[in-house]
Amino acid sequence: MIIFKNVSKSFGLIKALTNVSFEVNKGEFVYLTGPSGSGKTTILKIIQREVLPDSGQVLFDNVDITQIPLHDIPTLRQNMGVVFQDFKVLMERTVSENVSVALAVLEVDEAEWAKRVEHVLKLVGLLKQKNMFPSQLSGGELQRVSLARALVINPKIILADEPTGNLDWKTADGIMDLLEKINKEGKTIIMATHHAGILKEYKHRIIHIENGKIIKN
Ligand SMILES: Nc1ncnc2c1ncn2[C@@H]1O[C@H](COP(=O)(O)OP(=O)(O)OP(=O)(O)O)[C@@H](O)[C@H]1O
Ligand SMILES: [Mg+2]
Repeated sequence: MIIFKNVSKSFGLIKALTNVSFEVNKGEFVYLTGPSGSGKTTILKIIQREVLPDSGQVLFDNVDITQIPLHDIPTLRQNMGVVFQDFKVLMERTVSENVSVALAVLEVDEAEWAKRVEHVLKLVGLLKQKNMFPSQLSGGELQRVSLARALVINPKIILADEPTGNLDWKTADGIMDLLEKINKEGKTIIMATHHAGILKEYKHRIIHIENGKIIKN
């Protein structure tokens, strides 16, 4: 589903990625691990075409996304649900509005919005909180809002960047259980993390990167 072939990226003098090659198949759950600054987020941003590599190929379902024109980027991103460490929710919007926002960019009939929002909020266990504001929620609940927002577009892949980074162990556990469930239902997941406890408890393939180079794949 995702293939990196000899991908390199520098930011000025910093070599963020050097000849990175790996493959992620449909339905896999893969961790991207490595120390701070090793290039994990850069890889996730390249998949979203937020960062363009200097060289190499990045295939998403056989299309080299480094070559697609700017006007095709929104369509590409409709295939991807993204979850961040800091949740990135809109503070002045309710839980269900935060999730609906993701649908506004899709050509989904407005009549269908409520049904889809309800479905994902149920999946992440936030139906009761649907009219609450982010300031009224816990960290784990906020992360579940962002997971619901990622899922509501029915993406082919979930890209999660340290989704448990701001959560205590028990709450992180809840988020991992949800990601496991979503993966079992067929979604491909790539998750950047350096949370040793999670790697031990929830075993999946690891792509380990150091200094922008793949060490273990
Ligand atoms: N927009 C940018 N401009 C300049 N340098 C950048 C930029 N984005 C990333 N870098 C640099 O590229 C390297 C890789 O960064 P990246 O964010 O991918 O690391 P990471 O593995 O996600 O780290 P962390 O675990 O701390 O999140 C770092 O040296 C970082 O400073
Ligand atoms: Mg990062």
